[in-house]
Amino acid sequence: MTKCFQLTLAIIKPHAVKMPSALHSIRRKIISNNFYVLNTKEVMLAKADAERFYGEHKQKFFYNRLVTLMSSGPLHVHILAKDNAIQSWRELMGPTKVYMAQFTQPATIRGEHGLSDTRNAVHGSDSETSAAREIDFFFPGFNVDGWRERVAKVVS
Ligand code: TYD
Ligand code: MG
Repeated sequence: MTKCFQLTLAIIKPHAVKMPSALHSIRRKIISNNFYVLNTKEVMLAKADAERFYGEHKQKFFYNRLVTLMSSGPLHVHILAKDNAIQSWRELMGPTKVYMAQFTQPATIRGEHGLSDTRNAVHGSDSETSAAREIDFFFPGFNVDGWRERVAKVVS
């Protein structure tokens, strides 16, 4: 199979950042699943920034609840790199809906630490296009293509 080295944006949501056991467990999963952490920061979003980040969901019933949560406390934002990082991180996150996560994939991050569909512990980009946009949102000027090539060379 051809290797597809990718970068993705991972966010630990405010309720999980506030819970030391959840934060520790999520960090351990990142490391034990062999993701390279290229950059990381703690950020507090204004509600207007959260609205911009989740603009694609503007019409959804959960939009206001989502942006309220995402601007309610510090986020831990990471740029992760790995082969197939986007899919790999989403598999580690587990299903969006917490009942699906808890009943069908209890060992995923959302299965273990999700409290509700909105407070589902983590975010992950869903495509290369959204990863590039989301990385630029939190780390303006970060050279996604340049870093992908550099890290791929080092680890291949
Ligand atoms: P979405 O992009 O569909 O899920 P994912 O985070 O798995 O990519 O939705 C974005 C976020 O919106 C999701 O993580 C939590 C929130 N959300 C709800 O609060 N209720 C819902 O029913 C859905 C689908 C999402
Ligand atoms: Mg999504």
